[in-house]
Amino acid sequence: MNSKLEAIGIAKRYGDTVALEPTDLAVQAGEFLTLLGPSGSGKTTLLQMISGLVAPSEGRIEIDGRDVTHVEPGKRGIGMVFQSYALFPHMSVWDNVAYGLRMRRRTRDDVRAAVDEALAMVRMAEFAKRFPKELSGGQQQRIALARCFAYRPSVILLDEPLGALDKKLREHMQSEIRRLHKELGATFVYVTHDQDEALTLSDRICLMNQARIEQVGTPSDLYDRPATRFAAGFIGHSNLLEGSLDAARGKSGEPILLAAGGRIPLPMNSASAIVPAARHTLLVRPEAPRLVEPSNGFVDGTISDVVFFGSDTRVQLSMTDGSQLTVRCERSLSPRIGDKVGLVWDPHRTTLLHA
Ligand SMILES: Nc1ncnc2c1ncn2[C@@H]1O[C@H](COP(=O)(O)OP(=O)(O)OP(=O)(O)O)[C@@H](O)[C@H]1O
Ligand SMILES: [Mg+2]
Repeated sequence: MNSKLEAIGIAKRYGDTVALEPTDLAVQAGEFLTLLGPSGSGKTTLLQMISGLVAPSEGRIEIDGRDVTHVEPGKRGIGMVFQSYALFPHMSVWDNVAYGLRMRRRTRDDVRAAVDEALAMVRMAEFAKRFPKELSGGQQQRIALARCFAYRPSVILLDEPLGALDKKLREHMQSEIRRLHKELGATFVYVTHDQDEALTLSDRICLMNQARIEQVGTPSDLYDRPATRFAAGFIGHSNLLEGSLDAARGKSGEPILLAAGGRIPLPMNSASAIVPAARHTLLVRPEAPRLVEPSNGFVDGTISDVVFFGSDTRVQLSMTDGSQLTVRCERSLSPRIGDKVGLVWDPHRTTLLHA
């Protein structure tokens, strides 16, 4: 079971502090949407207004078209999982998972079936009799997930649920959460400030910055077509080349950016972002350029650092105008510090950012 979720003009102020500017966001039924953004950008505030734990200053929340803004949290059909697992220490794992069902006055048989199923789902059935302090952090977080899933909410809100776990366990739990989302079919809204986590988990990412939404889109939308400098900088490694437009166009009529000491052809579809006489910023991801002989490319540089990353190599370049660029290249090319190289790329793999 899943539900469509909508925030309409929702905003939150605490005195003079704006925790969230008026915001519209629609989450489709069964979708996995991630709220991603730096600390203090309003992620938890938005999530808690959806849950009902925080009352909005203005705007409303709808679930399947029904206005629930003034419905109390327990009656919205929403489940929540937090970073701190908040398990009851004096109750067994089984009783922790059963707690919410008993509160909802389900029959004994219903409770037993739902708890066993939820524990099986998070692969913790054999830990049912243990107490929280006898479990690892990852196991406790799994119980917290089971406790939420057990009563089958149609919307599940997760606020940095893996924040307390080490990197390896976090990656393992990410794939568990993806599997559980598929199995449950519920609508998930997931908060994180970890871009890798957002990119791996989400159907769509809602990128937040300074109490408002910066951009909403699929992971590849945000990676390949960031709308702003902030989006380009927050997701993935980015080279931002700044310069002005050349008065002359290129051979095929493409606009040319004078940046990094060279003449750089812009993608033909960048016309809408071009403002005559203004400075422009071009996003070039490290995987776009190819190393060529000096003066055979758009720009030239000298290799100033080489860092191995297992399967490939990151090369740091000092360009002729003094700017720095990071480029990924195959290990077999064995780049060396001090080498002079040129760079070319497919202009359509770059993005001209709106000023
Ligand atoms: N109860 C409150 N009273 C006053 N200000 C608050 C309150 N709750 C949140 N804020 C402020 O609202 C802003 C947004 O906070 P919020 O907790 O939503 O951020 P966040 O994106 O979840 O950050 P983090 O990644 O650190 O959890 C912050 O500036 C915060 O200080
Ligand atoms: Mg938060």
